[in-house]
Amino acid sequence: MAPQAALSAPRAVRVRVPATSANLGPGFDALGLALALRNEVVAREADGVRVAVEGEGAGRLSSGGDNVVARGVRLAFEAAGRPFKGVELTCRNRIPTARGLGSSAAAWVGGLMAGNALLGTPLSRDALLALAARAEGHPDNVAAALHGGLTVSCLVGDRVAAVTLPVPAGVAWVVLVPAVTSSTAEARGVLPVQVPRADAVFNVQRTALLLAALQAGRLDALGDALDDRLHQPYRRRLFPWMPGVVEAARAAGALGCVLSGAGPSLLAVAPDAVAGDVGGAMEAALRTAGVRGDARALPVDMDGTVAGAA
Ligand code: HSE
Repeated sequence: MAPQAALSAPRAVRVRVPATSANLGPGFDALGLALALRNEVVAREADGVRVAVEGEGAGRLSSGGDNVVARGVRLAFEAAGRPFKGVELTCRNRIPTARGLGSSAAAWVGGLMAGNALLGTPLSRDALLALAARAEGHPDNVAAALHGGLTVSCLVGDRVAAVTLPVPAGVAWVVLVPAVTSSTAEARGVLPVQVPRADAVFNVQRTALLLAALQAGRLDALGDALDDRLHQPYRRRLFPWMPGVVEAARAAGALGCVLSGAGPSLLAVAPDAVAGDVGGAMEAALRTAGVRGDARALPVDMDGTVAGAA
């Protein structure tokens, strides 16, 4: 007799997975914020792999077995010890690719959740998170994509410890997406292997202050808390417009402005009332540097990745 999970497994599933902004300044490889800009994956069991991509990445992302969403589905089958014959995927993408907004994390998490749902959910969310973090190479984007909200994540051997925190009301998260792409591998390649202890302490203090300030609603402390010495100073040479955009965002009333993940997008934290001004100032500063880009305030996604029958 087939196992219970297989009996209740749906033939087609729909998964929704949010964009994420990692690091939030000092929390390199540890903090992620899920944003209400979501990809949707519809998956059906099939013989062989076929992927249709709509929206972001259409015509560029693979339509075969090396598509990252399809690899996620296969990974879920392998981890559950089930034979993988193939899958038919429709990916409706709204998260811009290669911009520091977690498109690759969304692809891994979306594929893993879809595969697990097709199998009748034999794998726990913790198991999916560990698989996604290993595939992605760092846990911050995948943990926030899976759980939603502001998620703190920590690699502990083979697993990921993750805790999701509330985010204060009255704060706008303004994302500036430049019309250029960047590779995370390259943006990690420019980072030094070792850092001075003073810089490590600088970031420990600010990461702790950032989480404390957000939990206590002490927005006045965010300006100090969003500073970083572990990654942004080194990545500045990849994104020479960064200092100008950060300065313009602050001048327009932002509490701070940081690289989103490994860039090139930037994330400003601002009181709600000035979000529009901050976005406009960021776009103008980017334009002054000769690069086009769009800014918009995105609500925080508190749902994380959600799967259901298609
Ligand atoms: N923490 C990662 C990095 C996020 O900054 O390289 C990549 O999206």
